[in-house]
Amino acid sequence: MMTTKENILSPIGKEGVGPNEFGYYGTFGGAFIPEMLYPNVDQLKTRYLEIMSEASFQKEFRDLLKDYVGRPTPLFFAERLSKQFNTQIFLKREDLCHTGAHKINNTVGQILLAQRLGKKRIIAETGAGQHGVATATVCALKGMECVVYMGEVDIERQAPNVARMKMLGATVVPAKSGSRTLKDATNEAIRAWINEPVDTHYIIGSVVGPHPYPDMVARFQSVISEEMRWQLKEKTGSELPTHVIACVGGGSNAAGAFYHYINEPSVKLVAVEAAGFGVNSGMSAATTQLGRAGILHGSKSLVMQTEDGQVVEPHSISAGLDYPGIGPMHAHLYESGRGTFLNVTDEDALQAAFDLAKLEGIIPALESAHAFSALKQMTLNEKDKVVICLSGRGDKDLATYMKAMRV
Ligand SMILES: Cc1ncc(COP(=O)(O)O)c(C=O)c1O
Repeated sequence: MMTTKENILSPIGKEGVGPNEFGYYGTFGGAFIPEMLYPNVDQLKTRYLEIMSEASFQKEFRDLLKDYVGRPTPLFFAERLSKQFNTQIFLKREDLCHTGAHKINNTVGQILLAQRLGKKRIIAETGAGQHGVATATVCALKGMECVVYMGEVDIERQAPNVARMKMLGATVVPAKSGSRTLKDATNEAIRAWINEPVDTHYIIGSVVGPHPYPDMVARFQSVISEEMRWQLKEKTGSELPTHVIACVGGGSNAAGAFYHYINEPSVKLVAVEAAGFGVNSGMSAATTQLGRAGILHGSKSLVMQTEDGQVVEPHSISAGLDYPGIGPMHAHLYESGRGTFLNVTDEDALQAAFDLAKLEGIIPALESAHAFSALKQMTLNEKDKVVICLSGRGDKDLATYMKAMRV
């Protein structure tokens, strides 16, 4: 049954979209974890669907999304942008969520789950800092201890979010290995979880990690396309767009925006990866173009790696897309051909951010700017209805925008 705005206590997620019982989407997924984490991951795997379907959980989750996060987020018809591309473009305004990005949909869900599992302490990784802020926020809300791991490079380029996390009471621990970005922060978080598994829940920020994380996070984020369906119906008479476009780091905003359209073959699902300096420059994060099957952070997916399986250091101007893998759901969308994967360079993403600011009065996060730039690579006409997931706002990226010297 399709969820409507009147029917807010419907299940979170639905059958037929997620992985099989072992956590596989096609050949991707699974749970590859060190022995020390078996009890935690096993408990989560056994309990997550049962807890998420409890009426009291659904009520608390939906109430918080409404009154704390500010959902439903608007679906905005972008008139001037539409004119420029001679089509109809709608923006799903996740930038208007409390804390400024879609990440909080997932952290609200996971903190409620952690409470029901009797956990006392939360750890998280973060790249752009949005997931770290969203985690620190729900920890403050629920009075839980919070430790966030973040690469040293990202601590510098996303400084406002580091200050926000600290103000919210979180401890921010720098990750100093590798490229000192999201991959390395995730490594540190997993290491910390192994050292202190009892009473600790790891709130993973994207549709990555061992099963059941990709499915659990996708279900929490599926509220994005759940709303898109009735909002589009109200605005256009049909729940179905022709295209949904979203940027992909690990893939959580894309998973949420695609979720309720995966089984609608007429809807093109367009995922946009970060090309960095260019796909073949050696400084890129376009995983589907450069990766092959491998295991990263607990699941089998496409991973950028050398001949002998060493993970290749990625590069993107946007900290949230600067990751050498993608979630297994997206690897499957890519391999099965259900998803169209494009990529956008640092330079083009910057330009798209400046263009959107002037055309629509909206400064997007650098991650989201990649999704906007993809419009230039697509053939669209005036009958098309395109929804772009505007995953976050650009406040955190002002230093980068100022350096780009276009203002
Ligand atoms: C605003 C924004 N969009 C997108 C992303 C990428 O993450 P995901 O692919 O999980 O949506 C991030 C990650 O930090 C982000 O902050």
